[in-house]
Amino acid sequence: MQVKIRRSDSIVVLTGAGISRESGLDTFRDADGVWARVRLEDVATPEGYARDPERVHAFYNARRAALETVTPNAAHQALAALEARWPGNFLLVTQNIDDLHDRAGSRKLVPMHGELLKARCTACGDLLPWTGDLSTGMACPHCLRQGTLRPHVVWFGEMPLEMERIYAALADCDLFLSIGTSGNVYPAAGFVAEASGHGAHSVELNLERSQGAHLFAEGRYGPATQVVPAFVRDLLAAAGLD
Ligand code: APR
Repeated sequence: MQVKIRRSDSIVVLTGAGISRESGLDTFRDADGVWARVRLEDVATPEGYARDPERVHAFYNARRAALETVTPNAAHQALAALEARWPGNFLLVTQNIDDLHDRAGSRKLVPMHGELLKARCTACGDLLPWTGDLSTGMACPHCLRQGTLRPHVVWFGEMPLEMERIYAALADCDLFLSIGTSGNVYPAAGFVAEASGHGAHSVELNLERSQGAHLFAEGRYGPATQVVPAFVRDLLAAAGLD
């Protein structure tokens, strides 16, 4: 299908766990996903952390360590190339806490659910780059309080990051792309309605049609490493940027 786009158009892209699947990271709600093995109430809520912080640390420590074994794939790279070549406004919003978009070279990037490679002090609010394990025995290097460092990730019941910037971009965009997300988690699941309501064209790129596929004007289905580079090629060609 021919993509209708002008060079001055604003693009907002939302990504989810599906874009990192072919890099070797698990999704959440697929049959072999994270939530089939671990209860999200135990590891991804403030209440779970209050009950058993070491269990929560162990869960994110393992996921942080796994980042060393994976690399960005062709879909991450295609989005970084699109950002680099796109003359109009561009914003990549990701629900992923891995660092694969960053490593692929994306810079206009909002990790709305936080980042595995950062720790935050619940006492003084300090935000620190973090590559190793976290534990309750550690002290914050800034305020020196012990047991206050937590993963800088957004848990269920907490407010995602940079929402004002995201909604401003959605209200202003001409093209909204949703890539590799089941659309089960709000507020991200509501972004397509927000963008469409402001007149944007919307496209779902996913392994298969999500439950909310009918909310999109268009869909491209298949593995992210195939459909995303192909769609970016079509987009750049349609704008005369190939
Ligand atoms: N290419 C493209 N899409 C894929 C691929 C692939 N290779 N493999 C799986 N998918 C799709 C699945 O079909 C599914 O629609 O990716 C989607 C992943 O959905 P979820 O597991 O629900 O992940 P996501 O939508 O990112 O979850 C949102 O929920 O628990 C949380 O905080 C966590 O950020 C996460 C949020």
